[in-house]
Amino acid sequence: MSSPRIEVLIPHDEIQKRIAELGKQINADYGGRPLVLVGVLKGSFMFLADLVRHINAQVRIEFIGTKSYEGTTTSGQVQLTKDLDKPIQDEDVLLVEDIIDTGLTLNYLKHMLSQREPRSVKVAAFLDKPSRRRIDVKGDYVGFTIEDKFVIGYGLDFEQRYRNLKDLCILVP
Ligand code: IMP
Repeated sequence: MSSPRIEVLIPHDEIQKRIAELGKQINADYGGRPLVLVGVLKGSFMFLADLVRHINAQVRIEFIGTKSYEGTTTSGQVQLTKDLDKPIQDEDVLLVEDIIDTGLTLNYLKHMLSQREPRSVKVAAFLDKPSRRRIDVKGDYVGFTIEDKFVIGYGLDFEQRYRNLKDLCILVP
């Protein structure tokens, strides 16, 4: 059996350019107000690390963990695996996601965090795969909209591998 080939879908440089644009947009929208960035583990860690370097405001970094995937298919259930360390009441919260796929994770997290009475909750997503949506949720800041392909790299995994690739890639069997 031959091993899968890895093809680059979006190269690192293009990713960095787009993230700088998102940072500008975020800075303009929040006008320097303090922000709580909530990274959704584990896929968002690289996007969050690059995005936060473009934000000109006082930021607090939090992480939240969810689980919904087995292999390349979603189980349809979202489970919390790690909660925030501190309250977010009266704070401007920016949820940072790797990808909006079915929308189940984002929908779950937006509802859950809204119940904690933040001042606002917005979403920054590195990727959007609108063709797979099962719940109507949208990102406020979206890096790239992609077709229905399973992607890896730049934080995203297939069975916990490939997160370290600097480009966004696809696996070709
Ligand atoms: P949801 O289907 O929108 O709830 O997405 C749940 C999570 O599945 C995402 O945050 C990703 O971590 C993961 N996921 C969805 N599509 C892909 C993909 O193409 N590659 C790697 N992970 C994915």
